[in-house]
Amino acid sequence: MEFRVTKNPSPVAAAERDALIENPTFGTHFTDHQVVIIWEEDKGWHSAEVLPYGPIMMDPSSAVLHYGQEIFEGIKAYRHQDGSIWTFRPTANAERLQRSAQRMALPQLPTDVFVESLRQLIAVDGPWVPKPENEKTLYFRPFEIAAENFLGVRAAKRAEYRVIASPVGPYFTGGLKPVPIWIALDSARAGKHGTGEAKTGGNYAASLLAQAEGYEHGCSQVLFLDAESGTYIEELGGMNLFFVFKDGSVLTPPLDGTILRGITRDSIVTLLKDRGLNISERKVTLAEIRDAASRGELAEVFACGTAAVVTPVGLLKSRVEEIKISDEPGELTASIRAELTGIQYGLVEDRHGWMHKLAD
Ligand SMILES: Cc1ncc(COP(=O)(O)O)c(C=O)c1O
Repeated sequence: MEFRVTKNPSPVAAAERDALIENPTFGTHFTDHQVVIIWEEDKGWHSAEVLPYGPIMMDPSSAVLHYGQEIFEGIKAYRHQDGSIWTFRPTANAERLQRSAQRMALPQLPTDVFVESLRQLIAVDGPWVPKPENEKTLYFRPFEIAAENFLGVRAAKRAEYRVIASPVGPYFTGGLKPVPIWIALDSARAGKHGTGEAKTGGNYAASLLAQAEGYEHGCSQVLFLDAESGTYIEELGGMNLFFVFKDGSVLTPPLDGTILRGITRDSIVTLLKDRGLNISERKVTLAEIRDAASRGELAEVFACGTAAVVTPVGLLKSRVEEIKISDEPGELTASIRAELTGIQYGLVEDRHGWMHKLAD
């Protein structure tokens, strides 16, 4: 697919951009360009373009505004010490976007077009990728929306895929300090045969009420339990969870349709297996974790995702209890984080061929 490139006639001045990428905040400033590709039922994907960053002109009847038919991805660009720019497992994100599209009745963007869309954006906005220090990266937000002007409830016959990008620093600003997590007891994020596995806006909208409750109790992330029984641990609003036991075993909830197939989760499972650790992907109840913690068998809990990488969890709390884990980041948490970020920044050998070069 050929991309037509229209350069932004008034990009952010170099000095202002450099100041922004020196001290980035999460998702507040965007680069000078965006990628746009159109899909129409009778034409397929067409009109791939790199355009100046700017607002989307949209008819008020546009389908996405009414029925939430939209999906998205989150993936980062890392600058290596030699100045080259890389991304991490882009085909995994492309495939997840396709699965999300399938679930949300949107068209599936081919993997090579997804990867090329990131390369095209970096070709014009490469200087926006920060220096490799203090976890600074350029965060891509690829997304797809139903863009047909029509109020009927059916899959749209026109869609748009776009990529925007924002320079980001660490997601949690307190360093590698264990975070407290709020357990949502009164709301669920996803149900059986629902859209929990799709990366679609509605799942996040559904999590915001519990998130606000979490903030009131000093927690910046929320843990969701299964919708059916309210007993099994699923995931956080924006991260997957791992439990490490004193006997060296590691546990993470399985991919059974209600949780997001985290690419960080998958990578960590692989790295733990490489280390010969006993890692199981199985259903786990909150009661099992509570009991393990009270018997002193729970060593570490960490959350993981593209945005926050690997974050230690210090406390699980709800309106009825507090499960204390640790005030310090655990050993495995810290070492798996170091290994993963080391691979991403080109400092640790990439044994699995996860890194993909976007620019020299
Ligand atoms: C609900 C949810 N779970 C898990 C993750 C972690 O996924 P990944 O590691 O692919 O970023 C994310 C972030 O994308 C998420 O939004």
